[in-house]
Amino acid sequence: MGRLMKPNAFHIAIVALAAVLGVTVWSLWLGVNSDRDNIHPILNQLIPAGHCACQTSTIFKCDNCLQCPAHLPLQGTVSSSSGPLTRPYIDPLEYSYNETHCTTYFPGLFEDPTRAQSFWTARHGIKRVDIDNIKMVDGMARVAVYQGRLYVLKALAKGEDHRRKILGILASIHRALISAPQLAAIPDTEIIFSVEDKLEDVAGPDHPLWVLARKATEESVWLMPDFGFWSWGHIDNRIGPYDEVVKYVEEHELPWDEKEDKLVWRGKLSFAPKLRRTLLEVARNYAWGDVKEIEWKSKANYLSMDKHCDYRFIAHVEGRSYSASLKYRQACRSVVVIHKLQYIQHHHYLLASSGPQQNFVQVERDWTDLPHKIQELLDDPIKARMIADNNVNVFRERYLTPAADACYWRALLQGWTTASPEVTETMSDPTNVANKGIRYESFLLLDSSSMMRFRA
Ligand SMILES: *[C@@H]1O[C@H](CO)[C@@H](O)[C@H](O)[C@H]1NC(C)=O
Repeated sequence: MGRLMKPNAFHIAIVALAAVLGVTVWSLWLGVNSDRDNIHPILNQLIPAGHCACQTSTIFKCDNCLQCPAHLPLQGTVSSSSGPLTRPYIDPLEYSYNETHCTTYFPGLFEDPTRAQSFWTARHGIKRVDIDNIKMVDGMARVAVYQGRLYVLKALAKGEDHRRKILGILASIHRALISAPQLAAIPDTEIIFSVEDKLEDVAGPDHPLWVLARKATEESVWLMPDFGFWSWGHIDNRIGPYDEVVKYVEEHELPWDEKEDKLVWRGKLSFAPKLRRTLLEVARNYAWGDVKEIEWKSKANYLSMDKHCDYRFIAHVEGRSYSASLKYRQACRSVVVIHKLQYIQHHHYLLASSGPQQNFVQVERDWTDLPHKIQELLDDPIKARMIADNNVNVFRERYLTPAADACYWRALLQGWTTASPEVTETMSDPTNVANKGIRYESFLLLDSSSMMRFRA
């Protein structure tokens, strides 16, 4: 009898253990992958950071870059009176500002190319072999700038999403080239860029790759403005060029006094479950909270981008990596509330979280200080209005304009070529047999499938 009991108890224990384990794994899977907005808070505590390993945040070395454009990349002189407070007249749609204009009008915009240039110069520059050592994977393109013209040497896209993002980047570079006031001043060079969200998805940490966002520790990469400044949208959801979005918002936005005195957020929970669910949980308990999960199938809770501007406070949350939606939130005359960010985009250096030039409100990654910070804004509408105005003055009307975009791309090329003289010296005609490149203009004419596997 005793002999039989033992294995039975043992079996039961094993089965029970397996069941507990199974339920746990299932719950965690649910927490990480489900889009339901009602999973238990305890479960939310338990779920790991999910697809984004975001327990830590980026500490910007230069939170106040608006006040400290100390080391600009180009040799332009900046008059001391041309800070963001005294605004020079800037034509937002002018693509052809020269170096002097760019550095005078957009101080602090070129922090990341400057940083990357110093990083590589300290390592004795980028060599052609450093570029050759980058293993090309889906989401990457290798391009050349030769005698002021743009060439595509190789392009790999996994699908439509990649293809469109690659085209957006190519078109942005092309626009910055053809609008350059002194095209001859741009040296020949070669570049590999990636349109994937994360560096770790496509390459190791030490490559001189052009990317859309980086973590503070990813110092070898160069930040590009995202493809959406050129244009973005899916078949059923045309967003358009960023400046078109801005124009629409400017024409349709409610006056501040008529905006909802609430915090809005809409999105998909499963992209960054921990961050997003916690926001949902925290905001749920307050009258000012208007935070909802979008159910894409039924379009329930859907709120168009421009309707976000009807709220005084707009929350921004990172997704798998950076979220390209920040610039659309910054297009509203509203207070953008952002948790401490892990990923840096090209314009993040201009974010100011305090002082007279404060242009957003920063909260902890677990949102614990959100209620307090929102209450402060509700209690001090003049300050809230000031932050919203600064947001517009700095981003929508200045640093995120087509003028700034073209300046940035040229400064990026300038910083890059300064850090990679050996690449320039070893350039040959990109259309020769060994290089097998074609002009950007011809690349555009390829059918989609040839574009996606170009020289694969
Ligand atoms: C840019 O143009 C202005 C005149 O509009 C000129 O004074 C300045 O020297 C130019 N800068 C460069 C770097 O060519």
